[in-house]
Amino acid sequence: MTSTAVAHPNIALVKYWGKADADLALPATGSVSMGLDVFPTTTSVTLTGQQGHDAFTLNGRVVDDGALVRVERFLDLVRELAGSDARAEVVSDNTVPTGAGLASSASGFAALAVAAADAYGLDLSARDLSRLARRGSGSATRSIPGGVSVWHAGDDQASFAETVPAPPMAMVVVTIDDGPKEIGSREAMRRTIATSPFYPAWVTSTTVTVDDMLAACAAGDFTRIGELTESNALRMHATIEGAFPPIRYLNSRSVAVFDAVAAMRADGLEAYATADAGPNVVVLCRPEDRARVASALDGYGAVIESGTGPAAHLLRSEGSGENPE
Ligand code: DP6
Repeated sequence: MTSTAVAHPNIALVKYWGKADADLALPATGSVSMGLDVFPTTTSVTLTGQQGHDAFTLNGRVVDDGALVRVERFLDLVRELAGSDARAEVVSDNTVPTGAGLASSASGFAALAVAAADAYGLDLSARDLSRLARRGSGSATRSIPGGVSVWHAGDDQASFAETVPAPPMAMVVVTIDDGPKEIGSREAMRRTIATSPFYPAWVTSTTVTVDDMLAACAAGDFTRIGELTESNALRMHATIEGAFPPIRYLNSRSVAVFDAVAAMRADGLEAYATADAGPNVVVLCRPEDRARVASALDGYGAVIESGTGPAAHLLRSEGSGENPE
């Protein structure tokens, strides 16, 4: 039987940077994100029943390196929950520039969680799917629910993501470099925790920012959401830059986008910049402003507009007699 699921990336308005427990993938703080409606990942899981290894094909290429190990470890968790030892063939089509700091692992593990849970016959709630996706990649926790979501810090049971009320928003993704980054976020997080003197302040301040952001979202206060988003992104990058040896994800072209966004605001076009663990910049704006923001940023990189995305969901469930769509 083959189960196919789709999930979208999310961009954090309040970032997750640092684990409290690496084995359980529990974050040091909560975080808040907006799901995108572009760059979907579509993943099929077929149980092969064979012994040995799982197989993983990403964008038409057979994967046999560390990425396969990560998928196999994740499937081991699903097998444990399902009481199965069946091996699986995973075929994934990821339209996010993989590894470029645009949350490719978020949509990837969210789609894999939904497809694998179905293929192994697990009937998981949205909360439990989110907890499962978390074990693949932290940010994947937030790609299970749609819209704007909060990922709670807490223990294994309590650390899941759910949709929160928020005003309509849009994002403009400015892709400056779609190649893989030099230092992955996992290693960079470890180094930040071990060596950045700013890390304790990051944890205490972000804990406060999560509550402020949730209040701003509930109040529909776009200006406050934007101000908190840009501030939190810069705090995260400052914390990372404080690591030793230092890690710097933003390059001069990224900084130019932050400057262009500040200039837009000075001109009365309200937009706010954020960036994950890479040079690409994502600009938050009101839905009615997205075309203007996109055209103002044309020339800084490849520009793509996005609205608020849907929850991860099953597309097809073949072999079980069910077909959800
Ligand atoms: C900068 O979710 O990729 O995008 O949990 O180790 O897989 P792992 O890390 P990952 O880190 C994402 C970090 C971030 C911020 C965010 O999305 O909140």
